[in-house]
Amino acid sequence: MAQKATDTFSLKNNNNVEITFAAHGGRLLSVKVPSASGEVDDVLIGYDTVEEALKGDLFFGALCGRFANRVSKGQFELDGETIQLDVNNGPNHLHGGNEGFNQRLWTVKSIDKEGCTSAFRLSLVSPDGDQKYPGELSVNVTYSLNDDNEFRIEYEAETTKPTIINLTSHPYFNLEGAGTPDVLDHKLKLEAGNYTPIDPELETCGGEIALTKGTAMDFTSEKTIGEAVKSDFDQIKLVDGLDHNFVLDQEGKSLGLAARLTSPKSGRALEVYTDQPGLQVYTGNHFDGSEKGKGGAAIDKYAGVALETQIFPNSPNCDNFPNAVLRPGETYKHTCIYKFI
Ligand code: BGC
Repeated sequence: MAQKATDTFSLKNNNNVEITFAAHGGRLLSVKVPSASGEVDDVLIGYDTVEEALKGDLFFGALCGRFANRVSKGQFELDGETIQLDVNNGPNHLHGGNEGFNQRLWTVKSIDKEGCTSAFRLSLVSPDGDQKYPGELSVNVTYSLNDDNEFRIEYEAETTKPTIINLTSHPYFNLEGAGTPDVLDHKLKLEAGNYTPIDPELETCGGEIALTKGTAMDFTSEKTIGEAVKSDFDQIKLVDGLDHNFVLDQEGKSLGLAARLTSPKSGRALEVYTDQPGLQVYTGNHFDGSEKGKGGAAIDKYAGVALETQIFPNSPNCDNFPNAVLRPGETYKHTCIYKFI
């Protein structure tokens, strides 16, 4: 049956975890999880209704593509040809362009998946030339939930012509519950001894890989998000918080732990597992309280944190970064697990 933008779907398990999403953008609308004392809260920043979500920030909770994150000047070379994508974020291309996958109507089907209490397949065919990307891209994303409180996102895509790809999901979490002011007290631990600094001229990464050790970017031992975003380290000042790609120690070789976020107040924790080489940590630096979110509360700076599994920003222009090219006959695969504890 054809979907409407406002059609919503729910994944539930036997521990009172319930995740709701919309066909539009595959956007997550709510993620309800119990606290240590059993109190259920919605830990996803966003809006109360799907109608409000469609009028609000269209990246909230959404699937992003074809190339999530930035491509410098929206330009890259592929097999000797220069391709110019939309420039929709300062000098750069961001999250797939003016009408990225976050604004598409996905076809959603309930499916059976072994070991899961609920699962859905979201599909999309992006035509050749869509947002100026070459090749027709067929995308399948599976959302599933199990009784270990693992919300799993599995991406697969195939193309008819050589192209670039980097899909991700864009939920902002606040483990104290949406509507509470910020995540500055949340503690974060990252399995990342390196990150890719932002080149101030490019306003994205330019190929540099730097050690986190001895800087505000070092999350190899657990520390609060507040400690990092309030530091005067130049990379933090540049974007007024965290908006950086971390190079995961396991380099995308297998599915492994990437991050652990904990909220001492609620006792909730979130672990992120992925097979991708990078994790963008974004602390909602551009939120300014002008938007009203769940429960009518203003969405203020640092209201939530996005942990986006991906390859590195601007990879198509950096030879030393992971490969972003997908060719006919190959299958793009990516797994991200958000596990609630
Ligand atoms: C990026 C931010 C951007 C935001 C838009 C994040 O993934 O890292 O720079 O402002 O998306 O929602």
